[in-house]
Amino acid sequence: MNASTVAKLKEIIRIYELFRSPGGKIISLPSGKGGVGKTVVALHLGAALTQLSYATAVIDMNLALPNLHSYAGELPDKTLTHYLTGLCKLEEVEKVKVKVGNSVLHIYPSRSIVDIAKKPELEKIVEFLTYLKNKYDYIILDLPPGISKYSIYPVRLSDCVFIVTADEKASYLDATKISKIFELRGVTISGHIVNKYEKKRDIEFENVICKIPLSPDVKRFPEVWNKRYFKPKIVKCFTELAEKISQMC
Ligand SMILES: Nc1ncnc2c1ncn2[C@@H]1O[C@H](COP(=O)(O)OP(=O)(O)OP(=O)(O)O)[C@@H](O)[C@H]1O
Ligand SMILES: [Mg+2]
Repeated sequence: MNASTVAKLKEIIRIYELFRSPGGKIISLPSGKGGVGKTVVALHLGAALTQLSYATAVIDMNLALPNLHSYAGELPDKTLTHYLTGLCKLEEVEKVKVKVGNSVLHIYPSRSIVDIAKKPELEKIVEFLTYLKNKYDYIILDLPPGISKYSIYPVRLSDCVFIVTADEKASYLDATKISKIFELRGVTISGHIVNKYEKKRDIEFENVICKIPLSPDVKRFPEVWNKRYFKPKIVKCFTELAEKISQMC
C-alpha cells in the first residue's frame, strides 16, 4: 500500500470513529445561494433547542467570512480557526455564552482565515467535533454558501443535513442543485428549511420541514427569546422546528 492510500484509509477510520462516538448529534445547514439566512436559522434553532433543555452549541464554520461573533457580542482570542491553523490547542478554543430565555446557548465564533493568513488543516475538524460531542446534545454548524471543501467536508461529518433556501425561484433552483450534488457524494438530506417565506405562492419543493416567515424579528437575536410575556411568532416557529429536529436526529 502506498502512502496516499494509507492516509486515505486513516482518514476514513477517523471519520468512522466520529460517527461511532457517543454523544451529541451534528446538524449542518448548507445552502446553494448566499444570504438565504443560514446564520440566523442556526442561531434561532440553537436557541430553541436550549429552551427544550438540550445542551446546544452553534459553530462558525464560515472560515473565510465568519459572522457569528457579531451575534455573540464578542470574538474570543482563541477560536476554531486558531485551532485549525495550529495556533492553539483543542481545549483552548473559547466559546461565548449567550442567555436565551431561561437557558444558555454556547456560540463558537471563528476568526477569518484572511486575518490569520495561515492555511487551515480542515481534517482537524474531526477532532474538534469529537471533542464537542462529549459536551453537547446538539452541535449546529453554520456553513459558507455553495459548494467548496469548506462546506462539503463538514456536511459529510454531520448526522443530519438540512438545506436552507429563501422563498425565491433562484434560491429554490440552487437548493435543488446542491441537494443533488450532496446526494451524489453519499450525503443524505434530511429536509429543506424555507426561510423568508412570504406566502405569495405555493412551494413546489420536496421535503420541506419548516417555513420561516420573512420578519424583522429574525434579526432580533437573542432578544426575541428573552421576552417574558409576549412571544413573537418566530419563537413559536423555531420551537416547532427544534421539536421536529429533535425527533429526527
Ligand atoms: N426570515 C427572515 N426575515 C427577515 N430577514 C431575514 C430572515 N432571515 C434572514 N434574514 C436577514 O437576511 C440577511 C442574511 O441572513 P444570514 O446572514 O443569516 O444569511 P446567510 O445564509 O448566513 O448568509 P451567508 O451565505 O453570507 O453566510 C440578514 O440581514 C438577516 O437578518
Ligand atoms: Mg452566514
